[in-house]
Amino acid sequence: MDTTETLLLPPGGSTIAGEVDALFYFIVYASIAIFGIVLFGIIYLSIKYRTEKAAVEGTTSGVSHNTRLELAWSIIPAILVIIVFIWGFNVYMKMSIVPKDAMEVKVTAQKWFWSFDYPDGINTVNELVVPLGKPVKLLMSSRDVIHSFFVPAFRIKMDVLPNRYTLTWFEATKIGRYDIMCAEFCGDRHSEMLAKVRVVSEREYKEWLESGTETAEDITPVDYGRALFRTKACYTCHNVDGTSAVGPALNGIVGKRRALVGEGEVTIDENYLRESILEPRASIAAGYQPVMPTYQGMLNDKQVDALIAYIKSLK
Ligand code: CUA
Repeated sequence: MDTTETLLLPPGGSTIAGEVDALFYFIVYASIAIFGIVLFGIIYLSIKYRTEKAAVEGTTSGVSHNTRLELAWSIIPAILVIIVFIWGFNVYMKMSIVPKDAMEVKVTAQKWFWSFDYPDGINTVNELVVPLGKPVKLLMSSRDVIHSFFVPAFRIKMDVLPNRYTLTWFEATKIGRYDIMCAEFCGDRHSEMLAKVRVVSEREYKEWLESGTETAEDITPVDYGRALFRTKACYTCHNVDGTSAVGPALNGIVGKRRALVGEGEVTIDENYLRESILEPRASIAAGYQPVMPTYQGMLNDKQVDALIAYIKSLK
């Protein structure tokens, strides 16, 4: 509804945003008003009954009780709390009950990226593409620790847990790209666990779905691999400039020997790279933690080939 930038919040981009904002501003302005009244009272009374005056007999107020005043400061806040509760409960129910015609996307969180599975078998990493004006239900789970799916522009935030599903939904009201953040501290790259929602027209969405399996045809394997390295979020843990991050650097490694955790060594070749992508915990490079998630089921053979071609091209 509300798509304009407001004083304290980013521009809203979903049907629920306007309602969340209205409640938020009601609470903010009510708090400011109460703060002002209390502050004014404190200052006024401090001056009126300040010490040197109070020392003069008879200037201190003799009032110790005022039933009407006490009723007022009990009943007015109680009414405010009831208003906020009922209002908040209503908005919360709207945010919780998924419309029947919603399309469903499976969201998987893992350290430190988001992947999205569409009903048609399409899978994306760190980019959620949705049509404008259509309710989207997100069925979410985590492969490791607790994360939290947060889209500030849509005013939605929901924890994503291992071993159970959580739900949220939204309906986008404006074409554009919006930030997805992780709002639950989940390890040393928590702050880089960023993704985007891309809201497109119905027609563009259909076209995207049709071309969704991606175009490996018209680009070279190395270029395709380079694109996958970004879209599948490999870069969040692997550098290509020789510096180590969560995982080892990937440039200039093919043909080299590498010590493994435990004992033994491998020569880094296509098979080792393939194994490391699909079964990353089978042979861990010495000095690193076994934290890489498996890409089994998230990459087809052509994509694995392309990633290997890209890694081999890195000097
Ligand atoms: Cu995932 Cu913080």
